[in-house]
Amino acid sequence: MVRRRPAAMIREGITQLARAGLPTPRADARLLLAHAARMEPSGLATTRELGEAVARRYEELLDRRSGGEPVQYLTGVAWFRRIKVLVGPGVFIPRPETETVVQFALSRLMALRRDTGPAPVVVDLCTGSGAIAASIADEYPGEPRIHAVERSGAALVWARRNLEPHGVEVVHGDMADALHELNGGADLVVANPPYVPTGAAGRVPADVLAHDPREALFSGADGLDALRVLAGTAARLLRPGGWLVVEHDETQGGSAPQLLAATGSFRMIEDHPDLTGRPRFVSAVRRAQVEEWTP
Ligand SMILES: C[S@@+](CC[C@H](N)C(=O)[O-])C[C@H]1O[C@@H](n2cnc3c(N)ncnc32)[C@H](O)[C@@H]1O
Repeated sequence: MVRRRPAAMIREGITQLARAGLPTPRADARLLLAHAARMEPSGLATTRELGEAVARRYEELLDRRSGGEPVQYLTGVAWFRRIKVLVGPGVFIPRPETETVVQFALSRLMALRRDTGPAPVVVDLCTGSGAIAASIADEYPGEPRIHAVERSGAALVWARRNLEPHGVEVVHGDMADALHELNGGADLVVANPPYVPTGAAGRVPADVLAHDPREALFSGADGLDALRVLAGTAARLLRPGGWLVVEHDETQGGSAPQLLAATGSFRMIEDHPDLTGRPRFVSAVRRAQVEEWTP
């Protein structure tokens, strides 16, 4: 049986993936070889040789990656903050910019701690894989009561896998009608809704268009349709003084805060950049009195 050294296999993988024009060939080749060898990537450094069966699996993974399949769908895992999120076809792959949104949401929960005690009520709307809700469950130092809402049946499968171990309630449905039993009782509503304007498909990378679910990406002509629904749902769910934290497109640093202001339901509306300095999410506090608002 032919046995091969991991370093040589990674070098060949890098060459193939770089030829295919992929942006991170070194990291991908390492992850795919570790997946083929059914070990953690760190295990490769202490492995002298790998057998034929691993080489065959690795070649197949390299071919699929060269064809544009996301590395996370191939390995079944996306890293998000401190946790491994299980992902596959049908669910949006969590992105690094959303980690900043979670950081801010956690900071608001800590600020509210004097009122909420160790068990704040948190709602993650448009949960997808559940990355946001799972991270809050993982990092908040207490016993948050977390609810997560997702409309897509395909994504829901992944949300359940990721969130049930954390004791998060997963609701299948449209956020517009979800969780009426919590009305006026949530301390924090957080969301990464779809936000790409339908006419902006041209600026979405081809591999994202080909693989991420469309309902996770697009949201009407200005990309704000989901935020219009979300603003109403958040005003209904939040208690006075509760926080809303919502990710948006980098072009919506003006329009997303304006939309929240127009509802009359929120104060302290503020936009925030991600780690690359691009406008990325908006936060607001639920007013004591909310007005009737029709989007
Ligand atoms: C951009 S993905 C975000 C997933 C996850 N929160 C994350 O940050 O990785 C948006 C998700 O919202 C879901 N979605 C879109 N419209 C929805 C609605 N009206 N109610 C509930 N979920 C919705 C989509 O199916 C998709 O899973």
